[in-house]
Amino acid sequence: MQRIPSVNLTEWDPARAAARLELADTLQRNRDAIATAWLASAGLDAPRAGDLERYLRSLISGLCEVLRDDDWTLCQTIIDTMAENRARAGSQPEYVFQRALVFGRHAVRGFMREDFQLVEEALLETLHECVFRYYESYQGMRLASENDRLYTRIIKSLVMALEARDPYTKGHSISVALLSQKLGLSLGIDHPNRAYLAGLLHDVGKVGVPDTILSKPGPLTPAEWATMKSHPITGANILKPIKLYPDVVAGVLAHHENFDGSGYPYGIVGDDIPLIGRVIRVADSFDAMTSTRVFRASRSVDDAMEQLRIHRSRDYDPRVVDALKQIVNAPTSVKELSIASLQIDITEYGT
Ligand SMILES: [Fe+2]
Repeated sequence: MQRIPSVNLTEWDPARAAARLELADTLQRNRDAIATAWLASAGLDAPRAGDLERYLRSLISGLCEVLRDDDWTLCQTIIDTMAENRARAGSQPEYVFQRALVFGRHAVRGFMREDFQLVEEALLETLHECVFRYYESYQGMRLASENDRLYTRIIKSLVMALEARDPYTKGHSISVALLSQKLGLSLGIDHPNRAYLAGLLHDVGKVGVPDTILSKPGPLTPAEWATMKSHPITGANILKPIKLYPDVVAGVLAHHENFDGSGYPYGIVGDDIPLIGRVIRVADSFDAMTSTRVFRASRSVDDAMEQLRIHRSRDYDPRVVDALKQIVNAPTSVKELSIASLQIDITEYGT
């Protein structure tokens, strides 16, 4: 069974037990406010959210139990059961989950104290995982044929293999995928679903990077850095036999190319970089900057946008940065996040 979250609470200093209990109390006390804030991040108010609000409330209560007992097996059960049940009954539109996955983590941070950093990290990852599972189950129920399901299982297995190796990527892949899809829609590319898929799989080549490099706390040596920089090529090679669309593979291959030609693996420049690669370059940086990690705090959305602005034209395609600015600043109305336009058609994944 896959271990969640990426930080194992049972391995922590026992002195942190008190902090966990306090966090559980804080969460329980603020449960309704957290659920409301999360939904607001998805562009919903409580009356419109209906069942989803009840789902989030029960989820937070379940997580409080997990924090009190250190029982992550229980956590797994809660997540699986809730995701499955809710997907069966599911009538919530996909855009809610998409929005919540991209921006929802920010909503919870306001309820955390600074010295909760490790617990907060674990909790946020878990909440993110919950919404992701819910979303995946919802999608899975929509799929028509066994062949379609097979494709999703292959893709999911690849993502899980990566996340098992590199906890940093847990939740990151789906956020990059969803943001890439939105950027693709905003830029008017022909197949935004392919931007989603390439975003989901962009770092899959990291399965070929040794643990000693992937998890090294200090700076990498030149030789180690060279190995790390091989992951776009490894990723493209892993994906080729699945016969995904060529622009998906090209996007994975190009996701570390810089607009001015200073990136890798090939140092290609400007519009010669496949558009999906340029899109993922921006989505990847934005999600990395705005996510809290054990070793550093997150930047605010404004701060991250400022960094992207400073480095546009050098690292990023200015058009893509402008598109992200519009997405971030857009009011999250139901109209603007049309469900139909965001549906992910799994049958478009392969050739
Ligand atoms: Fe990467």
